[in-house]
Amino acid sequence: MRFFIDSADVSEIRDLAATGLVDGVTTNPSLIAKSGRDFVEVLREICAIVPGPISAEVAATDTPTMLAEGRYLAGIAENVVIKVPLTPDGLKACRVLTDEGTPVNVTLCFSAAQAILAAKAGARYISPFVGRLDDVGADGLGLIAELVEIYSTYPSFTTEVLVASIRHPEHVVEAAKMGAHVATLPPAVLRTMFKHPLTDKGLEAFLADWAKTGQTILKQPVQGTDDAKPARRRA
Ligand code: G3P
Repeated sequence: MRFFIDSADVSEIRDLAATGLVDGVTTNPSLIAKSGRDFVEVLREICAIVPGPISAEVAATDTPTMLAEGRYLAGIAENVVIKVPLTPDGLKACRVLTDEGTPVNVTLCFSAAQAILAAKAGARYISPFVGRLDDVGADGLGLIAELVEIYSTYPSFTTEVLVASIRHPEHVVEAAKMGAHVATLPPAVLRTMFKHPLTDKGLEAFLADWAKTGQTILKQPVQGTDDAKPARRRA
């Protein structure tokens, strides 16, 4: 499963990218507004930090302007993916951009019927919003299961399921069980995934027992990250 970060906060993205667990980034107009920064500047910075797919959403709602915006944004960096809303104009723009070689992430998907249309329009990714469906008492993860089943039935559907609007680690775990291709995680959800009280407790006990041995593994304290030379592994 690939992990994208769902944020336009450059410092958060830089920090999480350093874990080596980040495969891409998704943004949207609300996340850009939240950043308080210039959209193109933020997009350029994110594309330089994370080499994977970076979703940038058009602001227009008509096909001609979506195409102009999409072509402009795609020109900013090689790894830009254009996000369009799941509307008739959005899917028309998706088809044209896709045929021009620009990958498209079709967003604001809330039904399997919509997702079939996006796949037929050649979308690289579909973004079903599981959290927002749960928020209204619908079954967000049930939609993920439907999309994985439908897409895997038709080889001509090359669209990948990009689970969005994630609220907690269980959304990630359940979507992974279903075979979703990508999850786009708010930074807080990724950070929460690391945590378990038994891990903390176990590490504390290991360190306390190690201290009792009076031993150290290194004879000198480490200065920088590449201080210790890589071990020579026997073939
Ligand atoms: O990528 C879409 C995501 O940002 C929407 O999340 O929490 O606004 O439903 P949320």
